[in-house]
Amino acid sequence: MTSKAIRDDAKVLVTGGCGFIGSNFVRFALENRPGWSIINLDCLSYSGNLENLTDIEDDPRYEFVKGDIRNMEDVEPLVKRCDAVIHFAAESHVDRSILDAGPFITSNVQGTQVMLDAVRRVKSDGGKAPVFFFVGTDEVYGSLPLDQPELMFTEETPIQPRGVYSASKAGADLLVQAYHETFGLDTRTTRCSNNFGPYQFPEKVIPLFVTNLIEGQQVPLYGDGLNVRDWLHVDDHCEAIIAVLEKGAAGSIYNVGGNNERTNLELTHLIIELMGKGKDMIRHVEDRLGHDRRYAIDPTRLKGEIGWQPTRSAWPEALEETVKWYVDHPDWWKRVKSGAYREYYEKQYAGR
Ligand code: TYD
Repeated sequence: MTSKAIRDDAKVLVTGGCGFIGSNFVRFALENRPGWSIINLDCLSYSGNLENLTDIEDDPRYEFVKGDIRNMEDVEPLVKRCDAVIHFAAESHVDRSILDAGPFITSNVQGTQVMLDAVRRVKSDGGKAPVFFFVGTDEVYGSLPLDQPELMFTEETPIQPRGVYSASKAGADLLVQAYHETFGLDTRTTRCSNNFGPYQFPEKVIPLFVTNLIEGQQVPLYGDGLNVRDWLHVDDHCEAIIAVLEKGAAGSIYNVGGNNERTNLELTHLIIELMGKGKDMIRHVEDRLGHDRRYAIDPTRLKGEIGWQPTRSAWPEALEETVKWYVDHPDWWKRVKSGAYREYYEKQYAGR
């Protein structure tokens, strides 16, 4: 039997647990690891939504703490209490990073540094430091050309980000590797491809396009629509994170993909078809600045060493299920699009 890096009754600190991937992870982990308890540290910025977790908020194994990863006073007491930190919290929307780089540097780079320093303090104080798990992105590898489909990102591909978002995640990722090498922290890093699934903030392409179509609006497709992304279902991603946490070595790095490469045009046509709309709903708009052409994941290491591969990401079924979730949950995304979801914290937590 392999010895697990994490106990069956582990206390796990999740940062950014009110965001899209974080909230799906909290739900997935509570369901699939009955011995775990989870602390969710989230600052409830524009994309952090407590309504993503209303179904589990009363679970005795779950605790929400409003706080900021950039603030050591918020972070340190929680890090001291846990066996593992899973660091999701990040600014993640490329278009926002083009408009304003500031929050990407403070949240993604400085926030990760504070989290790492908190773990380092526990270690240097002689305590048992938690495992530090960094949820990274394949965007750190830069962009692949369209005319060489055989090229893929491996974990050995040089880090070559081309945009503000990816540069900020690369900064954080490299800090994680530096803290492992320099201070001996037990770190794990995953670099995932584009996620899809329920509770994704409707600024990202899939929920944006689906909710626009429900509202009778066109969908804005950037440039020639030939950019390629590898779509990974968020539950596959959550499962991969737990697998790497339990079976990965200290300092290890794994790419996580969905084996599901699609052009944006293909994605758009499929969404339109699933929703019974016509191609006249596509509005071709000016391209994104510095738009990365193609991301593609070579899954060999994860499959070979950890024995994990995606089972929930294949299209059209997985996309159809996700489209249906947005069709079936208009209250959720209408409150997000209108900004009304932000009142929930006041109502739910005022005076607590
Ligand atoms: P996005 O969901 O923003 O993720 P990322 O930039 O991290 O890949 O975008 C996915 C793809 O969809 C990307 O190639 C840009 C494209 N896109 C559009 O064509 N129109 C849009 O309105 C958005 C938000 C994205």
